[in-house]
Amino acid sequence: MECQQQQAPEAGASLYLPMECEVLAVSRLTPNEKLFRLRLASGAPLGQLPGQFVQVSLLGSGEAPISVASSPTRNDGVFELGVRQVGSLTAAMHKLVAGDRIGIRGPFGRPFDLTRLAARDLLLISGGCGLAPMRSLIQYCEDRREEFGEITILYGAKSVADTLFKEDLADWESSTSFACSRTVDQAADSDCYDGKVGLLTSLIPPLKIEPRRTVAAIVGPPVMYRFVIEELRKKGLGPERIVVSLERHMRCGVGKCGHCTIEHLYCCQDGPVFWLNEIEHLRGAL
Ligand SMILES: Cc1cc2nc3c(=O)[nH]c(=O)nc-3n(C[C@H](O)[C@H](O)[C@H](O)COP(=O)(O)OP(=O)(O)OC[C@H]3O[C@@H](n4cnc5c(N)ncnc54)[C@H](O)[C@@H]3O)c2cc1C
Ligand code: FES
Repeated sequence: MECQQQQAPEAGASLYLPMECEVLAVSRLTPNEKLFRLRLASGAPLGQLPGQFVQVSLLGSGEAPISVASSPTRNDGVFELGVRQVGSLTAAMHKLVAGDRIGIRGPFGRPFDLTRLAARDLLLISGGCGLAPMRSLIQYCEDRREEFGEITILYGAKSVADTLFKEDLADWESSTSFACSRTVDQAADSDCYDGKVGLLTSLIPPLKIEPRRTVAAIVGPPVMYRFVIEELRKKGLGPERIVVSLERHMRCGVGKCGHCTIEHLYCCQDGPVFWLNEIEHLRGAL
């Protein structure tokens, strides 16, 4: 398995040494998620590829893997993380304001294989918080639009309030670069929402897909994968044309501690991005 892992320039000294990073801005995405604009104190670019993650640390609160939500083709030296508050580290992150400093290790992990995506029609499918890593790939495709075939973005959120990156979604929906459809599981009258209501999988049957030209990328909560893959198979997409990004509990992030194993694979290093035919036979992978 080819791994395209990249290290930021300073990370070569020690994979375990956090780099100092400045918080440039914090904005709210949903009641439970915030977007952080960050820059390494050294001013060096992070050097991430779409699909990679960083290990974020705050003194006294710990460390956690977070996907980079912005493309390396944008914001020279600036990168973005979309973070859901779930526990100690993410709660501490949600208290950060512009000017604060945090630690960053990485970028780590196997990114989306941009060579295998090139010249293909792309189905970029995400659910919930999965739009954060997918956004990096969408931005990359937008900035290198001529390298790809037709691009369709599908996104599903639990509710209107839980919908991430609303401004980006509105831009993508009106863009001539993409087809973009989104849905929410449930909507209330008070949401003033006139979009689609239903599960993410309901967006797949109406699509016209040419399976031999198409690759589908999926990122989302674990429950989503099986049902989305089932719909894609009905459209004729085999496992060698489906790429998924998986989440596992992680500690080191660099293939040393064994916390993130999927049988013989390390999710942090062999993934988090896997072709479906590499993992579908592994117990507990999906
Ligand atoms: C490769 C990767 C990329 C990720 N990208 C993002 C991202 O872009 N944005 C984001 O908000 N979160 C992301 N996560 C999840 C994030 O790492 C966890 O939510 C984080 O570890 C929580 O840290 P905490 O200290 O706040 O919570 P903790 O106090 O450590 O945990 C709170 C709860 O979340 C559970 N939990 C922690 N980590 C995970 C995990 N990996 N999978 C399932 N449950 C978990 C714990 O069991 C506990 O129940 C990513 C995880 C991985 C592995
Ligand atoms: S997190 Fe340590 S081996 Fe993957």
